[in-house]
Formats: sequence, structure tokens, C-alpha cells
Amino acid sequence: MENQRSSNVMWHHASVTKEDRERLLKQKGLLLWFTGLSGAGKSTIANALEKRLFEMGKLTYLLDGDNIRHGLNRDLGFSVEDRKENIRRIGEVGKLFVDAGIITLATFISPLKEDRQKVRELLKENFIEIFVDCSLEVCESRDPKNLYRKARRGEIKEFTGISSPYEKPENPEITISTDKQTIEECVDRIIRYLGIES
Ligand code: ADX
Repeated sequence: MENQRSSNVMWHHASVTKEDRERLLKQKGLLLWFTGLSGAGKSTIANALEKRLFEMGKLTYLLDGDNIRHGLNRDLGFSVEDRKENIRRIGEVGKLFVDAGIITLATFISPLKEDRQKVRELLKENFIEIFVDCSLEVCESRDPKNLYRKARRGEIKEFTGISSPYEKPENPEITISTDKQTIEECVDRIIRYLGIES
């Protein structure tokens, strides 16, 4: 059991706090959580946003689905259980980055409400959910990695939107529609919400 395993481990209180680091960096640590279908544009928007924030003098870091699955989470597949563990680990990693005072961008399909909710509870007010809304039809027509085609042919099992569910967020802090707005418009919308100035 999780609790039993960590029951003899003490939490160390650091002498340099999150607030100290935030003062040094002149910014607030935040976890910007992008959720949406494969091909919706999560990575594209997050990359453009990260570039804009960097140009404004902000310290950022991008945790990206495909990259994390090559390293930290390479033992995980796409069953409900594995996706749950994927999101749990990213939530914990995101919390560490936020504690470091960094504006952290996380781009994962994160299809289940319950899993996203747990990350929200872990990060509290430092969690901002960004729903990257795009119809399945448009995502499928973009098919940048040729995965929808494979999923339709049955070559990929449990593919989100085809043979595995995607639960839309009910009350995300921000919704952007990549099939209606340009990348720049989406980035502007997020920057405006954050109220960040250089
Ligand atoms: S999540 O559901 O656990 O949040 P994650 O964002 O880490 O997924 O990974 C999704 C990426 O893995 C997709 O962009 C796609 O490139 C790839 N992928 C491979 N198999 C699947 C699948 N069965 N369902 C969804 N994405 C898949």
C-alpha cells in the first residue's frame, strides 16, 4: 500500500520556499494543463505560448505527451489504468516544477475527467485547465501522425476518440477552438487570461 511504503519517510521542510523562488523569478509558478484529442493542437499552441512567455522574460517548461512517454513513462501504454498512472505521474512532476516557480505547460490527451480532477486537487489554485477544443472530424482530417488512419483500420487499439473515450472538461478555465481560431488568437487568449506582463 502506498501509505505503508512511505510511512517511515519524513517530509523535509526546505529553507528556501516556493515564494522565495517566485520573488527571484518575478513570476508565479503555474501548471497550464492542455487537454484535448490527438491532433487538436495541444503541442502546437503550447509551443507558441511557451515561446511568447519566454520572450516576455518568463521561465517556462513544457511537459509533452509524446516526449514523456519516451522516458519517465515509457513503461505505460494506453489502457485506462495506464493512462491514469500517466496523468498521476505528470501531475506529481508538474507540482515539483510549480514549486520551483516555473510556468509549466503540460500537453496530454488526459481523456478522463476524474484523472484531471485529481491533478487539479494536487495543484490547487496553481492549476489552469485549457480545453483545446477541435472536432473529431477535423482532428481526423489533419491526422499529422497517421494514427487515426491506423486506428480506423484496427491497427491501434484503444485510440482516443475512436475506440477509447474522451470526456470534455465541464468547467475549464480556458477553452480555445483550434478549428475556428488561429494559433496567435489562441495564444493571445491564454496570455490575457493569465494577465502576465513582461
Ligand atoms: S493520455 O491519454 O495518457 O493522456 P498521452 O497524451 O500521454 O495520452 O499520449 C498521447 C499520444 O500518444 C498521442 O498524441 C499519440 O501520438 C500517441 N498514441 C499512441 N497510441 C495511442 C492511443 N491508443 N490513444 C491515444 N494516443 C495514442
